[in-house]
Amino acid sequence: MSAKILDGKAIAAEVRAEVATKVAERRRAGKPRPGLAVVLVGDNPASQVYVRNKHKACAEVGFHSELHELPASVSQDELLEVVDALNADPAINGILVQLPLPAQINPEAVIERILPTKDVDGFHPYNVGRLSLRMPVLRPCTPKGVMTLLERTGQALEGLDAVVIGQSNIVGRPMALELLAARCTITVCHSRTKDLAEKARAADILVVAIGRERFVPGDWIKPGAMVIDVGMNRDAAGKLCGDVDVDAAREHASWITPVPGGVGPMTIASLLENTLQAADLAG
Ligand code: GUN
Repeated sequence: MSAKILDGKAIAAEVRAEVATKVAERRRAGKPRPGLAVVLVGDNPASQVYVRNKHKACAEVGFHSELHELPASVSQDELLEVVDALNADPAINGILVQLPLPAQINPEAVIERILPTKDVDGFHPYNVGRLSLRMPVLRPCTPKGVMTLLERTGQALEGLDAVVIGQSNIVGRPMALELLAARCTITVCHSRTKDLAEKARAADILVVAIGRERFVPGDWIKPGAMVIDVGMNRDAAGKLCGDVDVDAAREHASWITPVPGGVGPMTIASLLENTLQAADLAG
């Protein structure tokens, strides 16, 4: 079998076009542009690239977008003051504080300070709780983007065995909740999991989000599985690669995401959808 490619770049472009159309409709109805504020602390090069891409994507769909850059030495109180000001700003519908944050700052305290209605990352305990109760409001961007990709395969997801490798708050845990809400049977694997290969081999849907270059070999893939690679690593030769050995996995999977051009563009597309949703919530 040679897997079909789940083309995140193309599907994200469709989502972005839908968002742009809805922004234009809002404008025709006399409503303000949706506004996103991205807060970047310090000079982590990967974060700088992500933030720049988010800023550019906002401009393309007609959002108002602001980038707030703070030095790595900023105190937690100073950062919370920036969040408070953005919470109070009617031009801002969505607030995203790029993670990771420097060691002196408690990320949970910052996330909890963002108004749940402006939490376009979907990381606030309110939004995580709503997702776990199957009453989602703002959903975490990467898992939401993965669900959009899975829906675009046209395959029914109900009843499938889904295995998520990785248990982070950003991807693994909300991914499991999304798949559970889609009525899959879920296994979440992490660094203490026994017999990881055996569990992966049972997956009809395998989502890998651990950040280890080509960690999943081809023979862990069940024939016909849908494989979602959330990883974004650089190999020794400097080439971008995922957490799955994609060339080997393609021989077994029915669908597979490439890296780059799979999940990454979907994360940004979901962020745009969430910001539009937050603007609609605000009226
Ligand atoms: N760092 C890596 N991924 C993300 C994300 O989706 N949101 C935020 N805020 N930070 C991140």
